[in-house]
Amino acid sequence: MKRKLAAVMLATACLTPVPISAHAQQVWKNPDATPSERVEALLKAMTLDEKFVMLTSEWGVPYKNHRKPPEAVGSAGYTAGNKRLGIPALQSTDAGLGVTNTVNMRPGDGATGLPSGQVISGTFDPTYGYQGGRMIAVEAAHRGLNEVLGGGINLVRDPRGGRNFEYQGEDPILAGIVAASLISGAQDQHVLSTIKHYALNSIETARTKMNSVIDEQSMQESDLLAFKIAIEKSDPASVMCGYNRVNGLHDCQNPYLLENVLRQEWGYHGYVMSDWGAVYDGDAAWKAGLDQQSGLPADSKAWFGDYMKRKVIAGKIPVSVVDEKLRHILYPMFKYGLFEPRVRPTETAADIAEHTAITQKIEEAGAVLLKNDHEALPLKQNLRRVLVVGGHADKGVMTGGGSSAVAPRGGSPVRGDEPNDLQHFPRPIGYLSGAPLDALKAEMPRAQVTFLSGDDLNAVTEAAKNADRVIVFATKWSSEFFDNADLSMPQHEDAMITAAVKAGKPVIVVLQTGNPVLMPWADKVDAVLEAWFPGSGGGKAIARLLTGKANPSGRLTTTWPVSASQLPRPQVKGMGLEFTLSKKQNPADYETRLDLNIEGANVGYRWFSLKGEKPLYPFGYGLSYTSFTHTGLEVDPSDNGLVAHTKVTNTGKRAGADVVQIYVNLPDGSPERLAGFLRVQLSPGESKDVAIPLSSYALARFDVATKHWVRKAGAYHFRVATNSFDNAGPSLTSELAQQ
Ligand code: BGC
Repeated sequence: MKRKLAAVMLATACLTPVPISAHAQQVWKNPDATPSERVEALLKAMTLDEKFVMLTSEWGVPYKNHRKPPEAVGSAGYTAGNKRLGIPALQSTDAGLGVTNTVNMRPGDGATGLPSGQVISGTFDPTYGYQGGRMIAVEAAHRGLNEVLGGGINLVRDPRGGRNFEYQGEDPILAGIVAASLISGAQDQHVLSTIKHYALNSIETARTKMNSVIDEQSMQESDLLAFKIAIEKSDPASVMCGYNRVNGLHDCQNPYLLENVLRQEWGYHGYVMSDWGAVYDGDAAWKAGLDQQSGLPADSKAWFGDYMKRKVIAGKIPVSVVDEKLRHILYPMFKYGLFEPRVRPTETAADIAEHTAITQKIEEAGAVLLKNDHEALPLKQNLRRVLVVGGHADKGVMTGGGSSAVAPRGGSPVRGDEPNDLQHFPRPIGYLSGAPLDALKAEMPRAQVTFLSGDDLNAVTEAAKNADRVIVFATKWSSEFFDNADLSMPQHEDAMITAAVKAGKPVIVVLQTGNPVLMPWADKVDAVLEAWFPGSGGGKAIARLLTGKANPSGRLTTTWPVSASQLPRPQVKGMGLEFTLSKKQNPADYETRLDLNIEGANVGYRWFSLKGEKPLYPFGYGLSYTSFTHTGLEVDPSDNGLVAHTKVTNTGKRAGADVVQIYVNLPDGSPERLAGFLRVQLSPGESKDVAIPLSSYALARFDVATKHWVRKAGAYHFRVATNSFDNAGPSLTSELAQQ
């Protein structure tokens, strides 16, 4: 009886607003107070109803019976603001690679698209990620959006993964550093960013059912390490928990991930939001540490609404638990300045030009030259006839599909391909404007550059006979919702290349793919440039790379296998089948358990090295039009940990950038790992002494008993390398003490 009375009193107190005048100083409005002071002051002024508003977000666009909230800008997520207290609405947009326009809610509102994650990480230089993150945030802010759902960082554990193009490769240290740069770039513009999808959501196959099974040490040293590094470096406002399960429990209902690791071990201050439809049991999610249930009505129930409120009013959940969730949400809103609204005028032509130029620069620095025989590239200015084939190269460049797909300004250059319809989500295949063909013509004014769609294979062979060079644009689309069924290129693309080869003229292949692919024709073509999904400035970047105006310097951040048989899981049942929201999945068609203990923390190149398998192209690999040598290696302590010193020389005839990589072997004999990297620009003949900070995580192992990273005493073998399989560079063994 007493308890009931107390609950009623609590309810009355919580639901009745305390007059604002009672909070004479309204400390939460004072930008000079600390974020924590402001949070505490605001919490005191909020009613329970007001608090609960912030514990959910809804779709900011129509979805099934749900209507677009009137005040929503029209994007993935919306949480109403509070006029009484001056709390801004949260308007979140998908923006892994650029601001999206879900269901074309803002008719015709296209934006700038970054190249895919493989390119951003392939620069091995976080300054590019930072510029990309900044660009996205500025474009979001122009549209009144204040939170970007970017920060995709799941490690590439399978080169067939549908969303790998949204992620930053297979190495946790590189991925962590690059994701942090994207997040900081955004948050420095006072736009919140997520990091996602926490955790071990490595493939799309049966993603809501998939159980990633992995031991604690292995997950800490791989996928969780990537998150940890990115969180330490960029303090993202929110962490988005994924659809999948980890060791039996769904991500958003997983106390180990949300409470033990994120809060206790890492001391994370921001908030955990669920992926859209990733809450399956609201009570479990509430208890495990989810702070905000997102994308209502994507889940089967709005647990974090009236359902939980009733429990609080009934005294079954203490208000302090609600307050703790609110603290997590409000803290970053204060920290990143959301309460001090800044008006951003709509974007100008100059903004758009600047942003397109940023994407072009990133593509130029991150696209990977895989092969270049007989100096087929760069294209010489005295070539007379150049034939371009396929890939809609006369119209634009491909984008990956799903929630991250950016719609171009002015509509899709390939008609009928506007990604604007949830019914056909994630289709149709998206393209960004900026045709490589036009750019190539501009770069080669003296050549006659012609185009064939590639549909007619005989026509390709015939036309190729009259060309000095044939450039085939071959594409393979990747998307959220399904993985690639295999590593092959689509049949027609292979056939198009073979048709070009038949003419006997030098053939250059430009790949636009979301993943590594098999190249049965590789020996028959002269050069291969992997452009990945090249982004808004990508057409121009490709032309500049092909003609040598830009010197390729991007490196692979995913190992390219010779065949799927080399992978930890050569076959995954259901791979390639589509996961749709509408169709019920037949569990018998899909694998729902992914044994990640097979490779454990030895993801990608470390797996290949453990198994003694030779990849087609190793992690870190990429060619240049010039050449570099590395001489000498010293590893010295500094205030911020160990630093490697080596000398890099450009021994060729062109200016170019080298990506110096330092790998380390630990005394415990575990496979080598990337410990540090540096991108360095050099003129022909120039040498530079470079200092490369080494990550302390690369030298340590996670100790499950103490939950600490421990560097054991012993002999550590360091080497300078051009890729993970290169053993020719300078090396040294250093005795290190325990740490
Ligand atoms: C994706 C998230 C995305 C969300 C909102 C989900 O399908 O997994 O990455 O942020 O939708 O659109």
